[in-house]
Amino acid sequence: MKFGYFDDNNKEYVITTPKTPLPWINYLGCNDFFTLLSNTCGGYTFYKDAKLLRMTRYRYNDTTPDTNGKYFYIKDGDTIWNPGWQPTKTELDSYECRHGIGYSKFTGVKNNVEAALVTFVPADNPVELTKVTLTNKGDAKKDIQLFSYVEWCLWNADDDMKNYQRNLSIGEVEVVDSTIYHKTEYRERRNHYAVYSVNAKIDGFETSRDEFRGAYNGPDKPAAVIEGKLHNTIASGWYPIASHQLNVSLEAGESKTFVFALGYIENAEDDKWEKPGVINKKKADALLAKYQTTEDFDKAFDELCKYWDNLLSKFHIKSSDEHVNRMVNIWNQYQCMVTFNMSRSASYYETGIGRGMGFRDSCQDLLGFVHLIPDRARERIIDIASTQFQDGSAYHQYQPLTKKGNSDIGSGFNDDPLWLIAGTSAYIRETGDTSILKEMVPYDNDMSVATTLMEHLKRSFDYIVNHKGPHDLPLIGRADWNDCLNLNCFSEHPGESFQCFGPSEGPVAESVFIAGMFVKYGREYAALAKLLGDTAEEARVLAEVDKMIAAIEKDGWDGEWFVRAYDAYSHKVGSKECDEGQIYIEPQGMCVMAGVGVDNGNAEKALNSVKAKLDTKYGVMILQPAYTRYHLELGEITSYPPGYKENAGIFCHNNPWISIAETCIGRGDRAFEVYKKTCPSYIEDISEIHRTEPYVYSQMVAGADAKFHGEAKNSWLTGTAAWTFTNISQYILGIYPTLEGLSVNPCTPAAFGDFNVTRVYRGVTYNIEIKNPNKVQKGVASLTVDGVEVQGNVIPFDPSKKVVNVIATMK
Ligand code: BGC
Ligand code: NOJ
Repeated sequence: MKFGYFDDNNKEYVITTPKTPLPWINYLGCNDFFTLLSNTCGGYTFYKDAKLLRMTRYRYNDTTPDTNGKYFYIKDGDTIWNPGWQPTKTELDSYECRHGIGYSKFTGVKNNVEAALVTFVPADNPVELTKVTLTNKGDAKKDIQLFSYVEWCLWNADDDMKNYQRNLSIGEVEVVDSTIYHKTEYRERRNHYAVYSVNAKIDGFETSRDEFRGAYNGPDKPAAVIEGKLHNTIASGWYPIASHQLNVSLEAGESKTFVFALGYIENAEDDKWEKPGVINKKKADALLAKYQTTEDFDKAFDELCKYWDNLLSKFHIKSSDEHVNRMVNIWNQYQCMVTFNMSRSASYYETGIGRGMGFRDSCQDLLGFVHLIPDRARERIIDIASTQFQDGSAYHQYQPLTKKGNSDIGSGFNDDPLWLIAGTSAYIRETGDTSILKEMVPYDNDMSVATTLMEHLKRSFDYIVNHKGPHDLPLIGRADWNDCLNLNCFSEHPGESFQCFGPSEGPVAESVFIAGMFVKYGREYAALAKLLGDTAEEARVLAEVDKMIAAIEKDGWDGEWFVRAYDAYSHKVGSKECDEGQIYIEPQGMCVMAGVGVDNGNAEKALNSVKAKLDTKYGVMILQPAYTRYHLELGEITSYPPGYKENAGIFCHNNPWISIAETCIGRGDRAFEVYKKTCPSYIEDISEIHRTEPYVYSQMVAGADAKFHGEAKNSWLTGTAAWTFTNISQYILGIYPTLEGLSVNPCTPAAFGDFNVTRVYRGVTYNIEIKNPNKVQKGVASLTVDGVEVQGNVIPFDPSKKVVNVIATMK
């Protein structure tokens, strides 16, 4: 069943009922100012950091899902309704929500009044703008009232939910004309405040939540709206809000438009006050002055659309498959940008008060957005590397506001260092910018011990070389990519963090997954060393890689698939010898992607085992058989009920690894079959089963052992976005950036047909036509570049050209 449809021309998903299985959200904002916005106008706004600078309040774990947002109430006689349906839930005569790229539109109609909202955050200013157009669709005059509503968060979203003894006394606001200023804590250590304003004279305002709602009413029955009159109260403590009242008369057929602006302002420490107790409003007024008319709004909106059109045009495919076209051209790239901005901090499943930026997460996200915003990718790499320790290990997370490593979680996740190589290599393959390798980058933010980025990569690599276990495989530490495989943890008491409990390092437990990563990213690091002319380092690295391959072949191979790990007793994990958890997806994907077993048939065997043992109609499960009891020696993975999350869920993140691995052995049909199973557009028809947004990937789909097999959770913020984009663009469609230039080597289903890709690479636009006359799955027979046939798969890079036309004909 569907709850809407794709409008590809407008790059929108159109939701046709507010009663979606779960809130279906969108993200507004490109730089520092962000809003999460659901299809019923729920959500919240923050500046830079969802925990530390939260502007509006969201209510977690509430009895009705998706409580609190930026609401507009319309009072038309005795009927009170919201264009996005929530929170009054008054049945609408019609409803539509269009989630677009960086904006959302809502249209609600009730009793002949249409309310159309367009909302977005301009690319260059810390403000969310909403245009509200009210139209009288009937043939008699209407006198209605429009009320806005936002509830302020007292900045630190974590403290805001907990520290009532203080917080209920500190709320402060000011109101001048149509602008409400939220200035809690500005009197002391903060130099920032928020504003909410409308470009029209108002008929009243409210800044106290209790006055607005009545102390015992919910947001669905606000007393002041029912009364039709706001009381112009200036809040003092308790729950500050901002609400404007506009009395609107509409002749038959008439429309009136208002522009609302919700902004964030910072003042210099010595310029905070206009006079004692009165905040300096100059910057706020200057910001609001930019958006006083509908024309100002429309112009800023056009600019935003152009900004996104330009970004998304960097990779564009035309094929006969509409799902691939829309996911590649629109939604998959868009999701990559959102994960760039949010890492894993703020979604409807990540509260924004927990994790900051993940080290491995952010490195992997780079793979998906580096072609879109290479400059910001460069900056991100430096930020990430700056949190590395001198021995090559790394803080597992860092805070976006301070860019400092998060000592609560610390280090000890032994895959982390290698992801830095993955991200940096992707950046250089994309841009050719080797200057980044010579940048001086601190360790643990200490510039006095800074070295070049290349040295950081060396220490990343050597961290693994220096941390091997009894089988010469990498020690796993607290965990590798699978945060829940905690082989040194041994936690027996509730409340202990699986990720942090126990020693960060054990001398025995080893990871075959990290071994696969070491081979793959070790080779990429060796290629960088070669590029810099350091052939000695290249040779040393490749020799280490060979040793690792030998270790995998000796003790990492189980007969039909790759072993997952060795636990702290040196027992195999992910082997036919185990009673539960006999086969895991991760080493099959990573080892084959690294090329291990491709020559001796083990890769094919491993992938056949994946198909036979892990596949379902909704995707490939992470392991089988699911763990049915808690295994002290394995940790969090066995804490989940069978079929959920890391315990035999379908982790969308590593499905593309299997798909890529299939392309490594030339099986395009199977690679695409795996791609399709988790691809949002392909499964739009089962939205009532899948439940999360049909335009983005979720982290996890419940596996075959789960009660709700096929149901997804944790949409939006997942490495799935980057890895799927990498898979479809670089491996299936086969346009892969190498250090020397773009390579063209598709691996598609036999019946996929011809297709065209436009790819902007290092400032050059490549128009690539791929022909598959004999319906093969892999192999390019000839490559012509601007009419000249070239040998091999790589288009020689020529910076003097602006446009290059390429024809690749498959065998
Ligand atoms: C989740 C993992 C996640 C980890 C982050 C665990 O509870 O299952 O998916 O990576 O928390 O700390
Ligand atoms: C989610 C985390 O963000 C990611 O870092 C981890 O690799 C996966 N879960 C798997 O546990």
